[in-house]
Amino acid sequence: MKRIGILTSGGDCQGLNATMRGVVKGLTKNVDDLEVYGFYDGYKGLIYGNYRLLSPSDFSGILTRGGTILGSSRQPFKLMRVPDEKGLDKVEAMKHTYHKLRLNCLVILGGNGTQKTANLLREEGLNVIHLPKTIDNDIYGTDVTFGFQSAINIATSAIDCIHTTAASHNRVFVVEVMGHKVGWLTLYAGIAGGADIILLPEIPYDLEKVIDAVKRRTHAGKGFTILAVAEGAISKEDAQLPKKEYKKKLEERKGHSVSYELAAQIEEKTGSEVRVVVPGHTQRGGSPSPYDRVLCTRLGAAAADLIVKGKYGYMVAIVDGETCKVPLEEVAGKLKMVETDSPIIKEAKTIGISFGD
Ligand code: F6P
Repeated sequence: MKRIGILTSGGDCQGLNATMRGVVKGLTKNVDDLEVYGFYDGYKGLIYGNYRLLSPSDFSGILTRGGTILGSSRQPFKLMRVPDEKGLDKVEAMKHTYHKLRLNCLVILGGNGTQKTANLLREEGLNVIHLPKTIDNDIYGTDVTFGFQSAINIATSAIDCIHTTAASHNRVFVVEVMGHKVGWLTLYAGIAGGADIILLPEIPYDLEKVIDAVKRRTHAGKGFTILAVAEGAISKEDAQLPKKEYKKKLEERKGHSVSYELAAQIEEKTGSEVRVVVPGHTQRGGSPSPYDRVLCTRLGAAAADLIVKGKYGYMVAIVDGETCKVPLEEVAGKLKMVETDSPIIKEAKTIGISFGD
């Protein structure tokens, strides 16, 4: 007999349903008496006891469905120890729900913040398994997260579409790709989409170098230029500002991201017509790619295997192409960033892509 709780937390992405399907199919096949409780809207459902007993049929036919059948919400880790507006102790409330349902394990799908709370629950004595979701691919300890490849496909196809119209009109285009802290998605979509300039949070850019790169293309007779710019791209100047001052500057932009600032600067300094395109949340939407469907199924099956064996307190990861278990305490709170001297950056530079550095 196993009683399992399952929830999806944080920003959604493609492959949440496919992963839950993998977990539950794996358990159904290998556990005689199984109860699966689905918590709604992430940790919120666990805190406020909003759940439902699910059946295997709930997890059937959802391999290709985007979003999450359980709903999701952001419950910031830093507020977990802060009582809610009615004074409720959220951590105690989560433990209460877990014990009330006499769960053997809680399966938690989410990104970095979600993982920190999963580790907190582990420290509080609950059995947890974490599955690494995010289009940002920034979870430490796994080579890849589910959602990443699907998002690359969408961001790349946005850049592909821009290529034709940019060429027709001889324009400069700034395509803003998701990723506030890390640039994995921008890097991969930028290379796949043939962007000329790629700006990442990890490599602060020098505006003059960006302008030079645009002008070099114009002088070489190329009518258009495409920049793939991460949401969190930052200029060298801004990177030197004290954190507080930079935060204030971001607030003053009033919703206008780095891309709009850059576009105005490029227009002013080159005289070219510049447009900004923000694919935004489309990057998290729609059906998971075939690659992600396989990844999700493998991660889900590996999680089921751990639960059958009673091994808890791990993130299920992919390392060197194989699924494996990584102790949560070794990875929680760490971020996987693009290394500025990594081979992929060097190779991109070799073919002439500018990183503005
Ligand atoms: O963490 C994933 C992510 O998609 C980021 O790349 C993006 O900046 C952020 O979520 C947007 O989140 P929200 O759903 O709060 O708009």
